Amino acid sequence: MTTTVRTRVAIIGAGPAGLMLSHLLAQAGIESVVIDQRTRDEIESTIRAGILEQGTVELLDTIGPASRARTVGHRHDGIELRFDGEGHRIDFAESVGRAVWLYPQHEVLKDLIAARLAAGQDLRFGVTADGVEDGDHPRVHARDADGVPVEIEADFVVGSDGSRSVARAAVAGSRNGSFREYPFAWFGILCEAPPSSEELIYSNSPDGFALVSQRSATVQRMYFQCDPDTDTAAFSEAQLWDELQKRVPGTTLREGPIFQRDVLRFRSFVANELRRGRVALVGDAAHTVPPTGAKGMNLAIADVRLLAAALRAFLLESDERLLDAYPDTASRRIWKAQHFSWWMTNMLHVTPDATDFDRRRQLGELRSVVESEHGRAYLAEAYCGWPLDA
Ligand code: DHB
Repeated sequence: MTTTVRTRVAIIGAGPAGLMLSHLLAQAGIESVVIDQRTRDEIESTIRAGILEQGTVELLDTIGPASRARTVGHRHDGIELRFDGEGHRIDFAESVGRAVWLYPQHEVLKDLIAARLAAGQDLRFGVTADGVEDGDHPRVHARDADGVPVEIEADFVVGSDGSRSVARAAVAGSRNGSFREYPFAWFGILCEAPPSSEELIYSNSPDGFALVSQRSATVQRMYFQCDPDTDTAAFSEAQLWDELQKRVPGTTLREGPIFQRDVLRFRSFVANELRRGRVALVGDAAHTVPPTGAKGMNLAIADVRLLAAALRAFLLESDERLLDAYPDTASRRIWKAQHFSWWMTNMLHVTPDATDFDRRRQLGELRSVVESEHGRAYLAEAYCGWPLDA
């Protein structure tokens, strides 16, 4: 037996992009079905980055009180760049009059899922997409947790199904994009300790990069640059603290039990095509950025805002102009974010084969940013997020 579902927009992937899209479509009276192969619990407990651009928080405000970004999250008006043993504050408020919010992605997901379910959204967990067929009535071939085939017939299909996207093949084919690898990764930890700093510290040191971030008054998130093949079990807690501490010279980290470890691989990727016919890609299905600067989820939300407007015009007024423009319009921001993430990464990390020249040039680059009003403003503007409507 096959379950057949008919809807206007089939959305593959209940991450921030897919859920936000279903919300924006519902606001315009457009019905959608969202599927995800993971369980609700898996989605709500996957540890990801923690920084929301101001525009992302403003868009989350439109889901109403379900968004706890402003109440549980914390506004940050600056970050510290640390190098050569000294910290330099980038003051976002002073530079660009904007801010970011520290509010972890899985909390955003809890808020979006709660809001979508409360609104009666057709949201199906444990449903795996196997393929997408384009056409005037595009289809998603999927199966539920018991292996029962599910066929979704829609007017439009959106792939918000992450970096291993199934929808991508229908849009970009198998020769699918432009990418870059990096010779390092991040070792991430969560620990039970008081904050070591009120704001985030992005630290460059001769031993590599470290990022000191926070989660709450009692839980902290930190990362240090490591080899991509690092085994998380190979370090004792004392060794992890030692690795972290030596990468933030001049700061004393407040230590505590480490209860979660993970290795984040670095990759930059942009799909060659973002739309074909009645199928489009958003978020990590369309592009991936390295984590430095926390652009991933914010970029996904920016794509969705454009695509939601394009789908409103197309499905309600048969006006295809915004949809035709979507790949170019989205690409402008995507490549700005690619550049920013690449730039922050290269400016702060130490490559395994760095020469004395490379190290000194990097310190020169860091100085040209922190000692210039314009350098600080570029960083602040990109970090807090370019305006969504531009
Ligand atoms: C976090 C992750 C990032 O990649 C970043 O640039 C800032 C913060 C985080 O997980 O807190």
